[in-house]
Amino acid sequence: MSVALVILAAGKGTRMQSELPKVLHHLAGMPMLGHVINTGNSISPARMIIVTGHGAQAVETFAKDFNKNVETIVQPEQLGTGHAIDQARETLADFHGNVIILYGDVPLLKSSTLANLNASLSKADLSVLGFETETPDRYGRLVVDNDNLKRIIEFKDASKSEKAIKLCNSGLMAISKTLLFELLTKINNQNASGEFYLPDIVEHAVAAGKSCKVMLCNELETMGVNSRAELSKAELEYQNRRRNAALENGVTMLAPSTVHFSYDTNIGCDTIIEQNVVFGPGVTVETGSQIKAFSHLEGAFVAKGSIVGPYARLRPGTQLEKNVKIGNFVEVKESRIATGAKVNHLSYIGNASIGARANIGAGTITCNFDGVMKHQTKIGTDAFIGSNTMLVAPVSVGKEALTASGSVIVNDVPNGALALGRSKQVNKPGLAIKLLARFRSLKATKKE
Ligand code: UD1
Ligand code: MG
Repeated sequence: MSVALVILAAGKGTRMQSELPKVLHHLAGMPMLGHVINTGNSISPARMIIVTGHGAQAVETFAKDFNKNVETIVQPEQLGTGHAIDQARETLADFHGNVIILYGDVPLLKSSTLANLNASLSKADLSVLGFETETPDRYGRLVVDNDNLKRIIEFKDASKSEKAIKLCNSGLMAISKTLLFELLTKINNQNASGEFYLPDIVEHAVAAGKSCKVMLCNELETMGVNSRAELSKAELEYQNRRRNAALENGVTMLAPSTVHFSYDTNIGCDTIIEQNVVFGPGVTVETGSQIKAFSHLEGAFVAKGSIVGPYARLRPGTQLEKNVKIGNFVEVKESRIATGAKVNHLSYIGNASIGARANIGAGTITCNFDGVMKHQTKIGTDAFIGSNTMLVAPVSVGKEALTASGSVIVNDVPNGALALGRSKQVNKPGLAIKLLARFRSLKATKKE
């Protein structure tokens, strides 16, 4: 049976205190809505429709860039979750199959749970994802009789005894398209919020003799994000999942709770990650590498056996080939560093290519920016760049060439050449002693 996903994302998210629509707030480096779309795609839906409202343009732009198969529809006024779903009536007119309703601000749902929710429709006409909790707070409560769901009561409308129910509505549900839109015609807004509640369809389904079931899942998976505090709670849960997955995949982490992953971080087995490491989006670290403490990586590829840090920063476009060493206080951006090369101390490498086994001395800087444009620096294999060399790009240093410490290199250096780009040293015998004596006597006269 084909499935259409409808993702609700029209709500304002007032409690976020933000100009950004709620579903575009990031979780592990990607908008929450992106997580929901990815999870949705895991069951290969025939259609994916996002209901937008607040910040509709921004949400639509993100969603369509993220996945070209996504469709968006606008709910002009937010009159409730039932009203939101009803906006998809026309769009889905020619669709035959089941509908699964997801929320754009419920980003932690697992693909396996979604697949189970989908499959559960083989045993029920309407299947609601629910969870049990000791702190049901403001969630809608699921009223069940034996195995059957009878109705869903919103917190605001619940009696004292109904509020004591610990079985809660995640908001996510699966139902056939035909039944969904038939039931939606029956709901009204005569309730404490004056809204058209989607959960009210349960009561009408039961009245029509349909079977409604609850599928249980873990509370954290269906956690809704309505405030910054909840966003940070969701982030923590997501990070814990990623940390556990990395450990299970053979990654050693000295202090897992201090390592932060992005949604797409890819770490090979037998990598060792020390304390306080941050992976921004787009990082791959191959097997057997070491990422030492306090390093920050983003948009970087680290090939097998490389060592990065401590205190290293790899920015987007960094490509480290095998067994490269990037040491403390080194920043690399848009650069390719070939096998076995070393940049061990206090350097900036930007828009550069560095040959195999080249050694870049402490304090080396590729001066890549002239105030308007970026320029390339090329360093050959087995070159040796002396400490504190300024490489004023565009410039190249040939293979097995050497630059003297403190040089400012503005012209290309041929293969095998030594480049001296600094002023000549002059020694004045005995002058230091004479000068110091003069300074001391000057100081003594000033005191008097
Ligand atoms: C809803 C459920 C509640 C459930 C809870 C789980 C209803 C009436 N209540 O309550 O039973 O326990 O979720 O988190 O459904 N939205 C729209 N248009 C609207 C209203 C909402 O698109 O007119 C979207 C929101 O952006 C959000 C989702 O629907 O993504 C849920 O809306 P929200 O207002 O957060 O519902 P809750 O009060 O949390
Ligand atoms: Mg909510």
